[in-house]
Amino acid sequence: MLSSSERHEPGTGRRRFGRRRTGNYGSVPDLLKTLVVLGARGDMTGRLLLPALVRLAGAGQLPAEMQVVAMDRDAGDDDAYRDHARQKLDAHLPDRDEKATEAFLERLSYRQADVTSADALRKALDGLASPMAVYLALPNVLFRPTLEALSEAGLPPHATLVVEKPFGTDLDDAKELNALIARSFDERDVFRIDHFLAKQTVLDVLGLRFANRIFEPVWNSEHISRVDITWYESLGLEGRANYYDRAGALRDMIQNHLLQMLALVAMDPPRSITDRDLRDRKVEALRAVVPPKPEEMAKATRRARYTAGTVGGKDLPAYADAEGVDPSRGTETYAEVTFRVSNWRWGGTPFRLRTGKAIGQERREIAVYFKTVPHEPFDDRDRADVLRFTLSPDAISLELNLNGEGDPFDLERVTLDSEFPTQELPPYALLLKEIAEGDPTLSIRGDEAEELWRIVEPVLQAWERDEVPLEEYPAGSGGPKGAKATPQRAAGRGTAAGDDPRSG
Ligand code: BG6
Repeated sequence: MLSSSERHEPGTGRRRFGRRRTGNYGSVPDLLKTLVVLGARGDMTGRLLLPALVRLAGAGQLPAEMQVVAMDRDAGDDDAYRDHARQKLDAHLPDRDEKATEAFLERLSYRQADVTSADALRKALDGLASPMAVYLALPNVLFRPTLEALSEAGLPPHATLVVEKPFGTDLDDAKELNALIARSFDERDVFRIDHFLAKQTVLDVLGLRFANRIFEPVWNSEHISRVDITWYESLGLEGRANYYDRAGALRDMIQNHLLQMLALVAMDPPRSITDRDLRDRKVEALRAVVPPKPEEMAKATRRARYTAGTVGGKDLPAYADAEGVDPSRGTETYAEVTFRVSNWRWGGTPFRLRTGKAIGQERREIAVYFKTVPHEPFDDRDRADVLRFTLSPDAISLELNLNGEGDPFDLERVTLDSEFPTQELPPYALLLKEIAEGDPTLSIRGDEAEELWRIVEPVLQAWERDEVPLEEYPAGSGGPKGAKATPQRAAGRGTAAGDDPRSG
């Protein structure tokens, strides 16, 4: 059989290669001794950080001496916080290693502090061991006052800073945050988080492109007609109105996660997969990204929000009616932008980035559409080859044209498909490991963060001026008309997976 669909069992599907760490930065002399989490009772810490730390502990990958010090403004002691942590773990990591959990909780302590007060921080940080990392697991509005307070309180030399997304609200804000950070931290000790960079299949873009000979020669606009990066999820607002209603889909997903994926697809080969080389190449690619011109906005961008509907058997109220939403803000839950990458490699190849919430059929992928062959010897018109990186479940597939099984003079569509097991360490656990080891390769550099805002800002402004209509789509549907949420992968012969296969 020419078609293949392989499922790899955990531990057998991938051969491991050690990562070469060149140590071109690496100012952190030892593994981390203290991780300070600001925003200890917040959603981010409960939903993502605590489960990730327990996963790391379970994998035996927490630095032996590392203590985790949780801080928040509420009164409380270690025991009360440990109970809070247990509750969060029950909700977000019910299936866990109890021994590892208890061992982790032993290392966890709590200190009360108003994180925007230099005095309170000075007291709370007093006596903690170095090297230290301070994790801002806080709402975006608290970044600035907290950074000011940290700068005034003073930190041990080479303290690490970890900042969650969104990094600022626009380009000016990101610039100001960067300037504020530079007062207290070396750039090489700053981790601006984008957890998509720790997703296995996103990283597979690097492996596939730069560890195989066959793709790089055709990885350009001469052979690739377009790239679609799609993130359609069935989740709705999930009680996050406080944050999301001010952000919207463009700021929440495209400004960071989807543009990061674009950067990995578009970048030139780096000298090594280390912080400086990889991020230099990414920034270079991002600098070439051109947002639509004012007169192109209406054609090259779309925004929409969901109305009431049913997703996965659950009724979802209209976004505009959800608790905490101010409908007059016109926040979009679907965003689509087609960018150009203006350089020698990519001139003429559009990169379409789109994302939506409350979409009936989930779809998360990077799809690379190749051009058709220059001459077609078959009567049948062949279709463009498509290479897809699919996330959750993680898979890579290649759609090709081959001779038909019945009549060999006919063409058939064949999909070579490889699905991978769930990654060993979930993205947040992998990022915490990188933080503990002082390796910022998978985090966003300051200049990169500014570049990301430069790219989306003209779109945000055009939308604010209502130059692009706010469309609607029922929750549970495929998104606004024409968004096409059809399933992306189908292994074997004769399948017509994906949309617009003749796109060459
Ligand atoms: C987050 C966004 O950064 O990424 C969410 O704020 C989105 O809106 C999420 O749902 C998607 O990533 P994951 O890894 O949780 O599927």
